[in-house]
Amino acid sequence: MSKDTVTITDNATGRSIELPVLHGTAGPSAIDVRSLFKSLGYFTFDPGFMSTASCKSAITFIDGEQGILRYRGYPIEQLAEHSSYLEVCYLLLYGELPNTAEFDSFSSSIKRHALLHEAMRRFVSAFRHDAHPMAIMVGVVGALAAFYGDATNVHDPSVRELASHRLIAKMPTIAAWSYKHSIGEPFIYPNNSLGFAENFLHMMFSVPAEPFKPDPRIVKALDLILILHADHEQNASTSTVRLTGSSEASPFAAVSAGIGSLWGPSHGGANEAVIRMLEEIVESGKPVQHYIDRAKDKNDRYRLMGFGHRVYKNYDPRARIIRQACYEVLETLSDDHANKALFDTAMELERIALEDDYFKERKLYPNVDFYSGIILRAIGIPMNMFTVVFAMARVVGWLAHWNEMMSDPDARIARPRQLYVGKVERDYVGIDKRG
Ligand code: CMC
Repeated sequence: MSKDTVTITDNATGRSIELPVLHGTAGPSAIDVRSLFKSLGYFTFDPGFMSTASCKSAITFIDGEQGILRYRGYPIEQLAEHSSYLEVCYLLLYGELPNTAEFDSFSSSIKRHALLHEAMRRFVSAFRHDAHPMAIMVGVVGALAAFYGDATNVHDPSVRELASHRLIAKMPTIAAWSYKHSIGEPFIYPNNSLGFAENFLHMMFSVPAEPFKPDPRIVKALDLILILHADHEQNASTSTVRLTGSSEASPFAAVSAGIGSLWGPSHGGANEAVIRMLEEIVESGKPVQHYIDRAKDKNDRYRLMGFGHRVYKNYDPRARIIRQACYEVLETLSDDHANKALFDTAMELERIALEDDYFKERKLYPNVDFYSGIILRAIGIPMNMFTVVFAMARVVGWLAHWNEMMSDPDARIARPRQLYVGKVERDYVGIDKRG
């Protein structure tokens, strides 16, 4: 057996094949099983993709054991400290940090595409006033495909670039309008003199009668949240966007599918679930230990939201950054007692859980969502908008992956196989003869 192959032997037939081992630039290598079915007639079985690399990617690197996250090679800690969300968007999309001219041109393109078609006002208004903003976002982003039919020419890189700019630019407008609709306030148009995060806050909180000037420290905290959520390699929603896009569907349809995937509480919906959990703990007056015990009880479906991660078996590096930011935001808003109580409860929960054998043995640590909801709540974003803000940030990651896949000559339609466990062939029986 050569060094870079793995031999698989079928003990039933004695036949062996050598499978190549693929090495990336960092992280575990992967066994290339593409010839397995042709050679031995077997599929691999891996529900939930526990051991499967679904693609090659040069965008984001995670080492879950060490708690490392890098975008295009840059550590998340450095980007969080020195960069901005828009610069990170450029980095994720184009692979390099921009020079001044590149950044100016990118940022003015994003500004120019922030407006929605006027027909979209009626479209958003037509939703029930109490519709969840994620439901509105799934619908409105999917509907953009009807406005930009040219985007279906997905093999043209310039078409993909334009669709990517449009989506990054329009997500904050869609997000803010879904909120304005739910509270019955007029939609606020984007203001091109404002930065990305500030413009979103403007569209969320301005009213025609009064301007809104957010505290720069709040704008910075929101920009940080956007940076930390911008990409996370092949998570459920990114894989959904890749899978949908692999059929050469419109990027607006693919991103809409990704938003749907993000919505669930095991993924992007966890930030909302964390706040509900912390509020319940604070309001119940019961000790934190009571909730830790429930999370450990196998007969109780209760889980500590914001704890655990498929990839991180160490402290999520994003959680560490956001925990510090949370502290700083709450210092800024010194009279915000409700959020301070949630933060204190979160810290106590974290301390008790990290000392508990159940959490230690399973390597369950706080993830990014454990603290992000506290910041969002402190800056006035309503709870049902938390996952919408996550989607607004993650859209660039989805698009970077979609672009990478569409420009990969080896890319094919994603079509997993299955282990069939249903009935074998049987004959149809007329209804009068069935027991
Ligand atoms: N509280 C209590 N026990 C847990 C938790 C938790 N939050 N998470 C996992 N476990 C236990 C689980 O019961 C299992 O125990 P056992 O081995 O005895 O059966 C073990 O840890 C492994 O869990 P798993 O469900 O097999 O792990 P997974 O990789 O399939 O799930 C997860 C990962 C994130 C879905 C899960 O940890 C979870 O449900 N966490 C809470 C929801 C959450 O915070 N989600 C946000 C993820 S980060 C943001 C994002 O990527 O969108």
